[in-house]
Amino acid sequence: MILLLGTGNPGKIRELRAILEPIPGLQLATRDDTPFPDIPEVGSTFAENAILKARGIASATGVAVLAEDSGLCVRALRGAPGVRSARYAGSPTDHRANTERLLRELTGVTDRAARFVSVAVLRFEDGREVLRAGVLAGRIARRPTGSGGFGYDPVFVPDGFTQTLAELPPETKNELSHRVRAVNPLRGVLRQELDARASR
Ligand code: IMP
Repeated sequence: MILLLGTGNPGKIRELRAILEPIPGLQLATRDDTPFPDIPEVGSTFAENAILKARGIASATGVAVLAEDSGLCVRALRGAPGVRSARYAGSPTDHRANTERLLRELTGVTDRAARFVSVAVLRFEDGREVLRAGVLAGRIARRPTGSGGFGYDPVFVPDGFTQTLAELPPETKNELSHRVRAVNPLRGVLRQELDARASR
């Protein structure tokens, strides 16, 4: 079975591969293998945007799709940047500029609590859809550190840690991230589907 990863973000593709590649019989495809158009993220929630992406990409390609929408929600900013995380400092996406804006908005703010949220939607060729969400709680550092990961990773310190996600090894991020928490339950759904297809 071919599953198209519905994102062009290389950081997300790397992480999704690490989570899904160990599933026997599942072949992952990306935009390079099966081109799809950009789907405007006009929803007001992560779930709405993930569903828009899954349906838009599925109708353009006809294959099974895993779409994901995610972002950073900061308590002192009343949930911002939220669904606007990718373009917080404007379009096109500039991760460094986004992080700089975030730190600027939080100048002098002592409440640094934040959470990453991910909503993943698995859509099969026949239109069946399964949606799962994952959250990672933490806090925003005073300055960026580390070179791993992507996006806001250099300023996000997960609860229980002293280092940012960009300083921690990729394996650690992939054990605790919002994305792995959303996508891991879908591994079971994919395994069941593969078994059902094999016994047909
Ligand atoms: P979208 O889901 O393509 O709309 O983009 C999600 C945006 O949220 C990314 O461009 C990042 O700015 C941010 N984001 C989501 N997940 C992560 C993560 O794991 N690390 C750092 N930033 C992330």
